This record gives sequence, structure tokens and C-alpha cells, in this order.
Amino acid sequence: MERRVFVKKACGICLLGMAGMLTPGLMNTAIAKGNKIYKVKLTEQNEVIVPLSLFIENKLQIVRVKDWEYDMAIQKKEDGSFIALLLRCTHMDNQIHPSNEGYICSLHGSTFDQTGNVTKGPAEIALTQYHANIKEDHLIITA
Ligand code: FES
Repeated sequence: MERRVFVKKACGICLLGMAGMLTPGLMNTAIAKGNKIYKVKLTEQNEVIVPLSLFIENKLQIVRVKDWEYDMAIQKKEDGSFIALLLRCTHMDNQIHPSNEGYICSLHGSTFDQTGNVTKGPAEIALTQYHANIKEDHLIITA
């Protein structure tokens, strides 16, 4: 192969690769944009305490626990109970983000429903779920 042809093909492949790497990043920004992040510290009892007032307008709240590598999603269900999920993809530990149907991983495209079950692989295992209890006007999540 002539040197000029090789360089041209190699550059084309690099550009395609870069475009593929940038697109998921843009998608994440767009997906995460509508959800405000509530920042909190873990208590000495390994609990995450979130005010219930956060769920008056939005059924979904993204929570960032200090020193945790991954965010948590807390969803208020139709029956008034809550589900708390760690936003760590069970395929290769990538941070996942909310989507219209549940959650999506931008790395290899796994999707999860709102209860954390896998709806599309390559992930095969459901998201980590935490116990959530209502106590007065707060939600207590046991980590
Ligand atoms: S790390 Fe999420 S699908 Fe691979």
C-alpha cells in the first residue's frame, strides 16, 4: 500500500473512532441535564438521608453521596414507595444515566428498566438496589 493511501485511511479510521468516543459523552450530558443532583454525606450509620420534598415535582432524584464513585437514583413509584439504585453498570462498572425508559450505559449500550433489571445487554446482572424507608419527612436509604 502506498504511504499516502495508508495515511489517508488511518486518519479516516481515527476520526471515526473520535466521533464514536465523543457521541456518548454528548448523550450523557443531554440525558443528565434534566435531573438536578442532590449532594449528601453518608451518616455514621451508613445511611443516606434525603428530604421527601425533593420528590414533589420530580419522581426521579439523582443523589451524589460524598466519596462514592457512583451516583444513586431514587425513584418514587406509583404506590408511593421508593426504589434506590446505584448507577453503576454491572457490565464493566461505568456510570450510567437516566433515560426515558430507565437507565442507559453509554459505554457498550446496556439498558436497565426503572427497577434496575437488564433490558438490553451486554450487562446480565440487575443494578444494585438499596433499602429505602420513609421516616417522617425524610427518606432513609441503607447503604
Ligand atoms: S460498561 Fe455498561 S454496557 Fe459495558
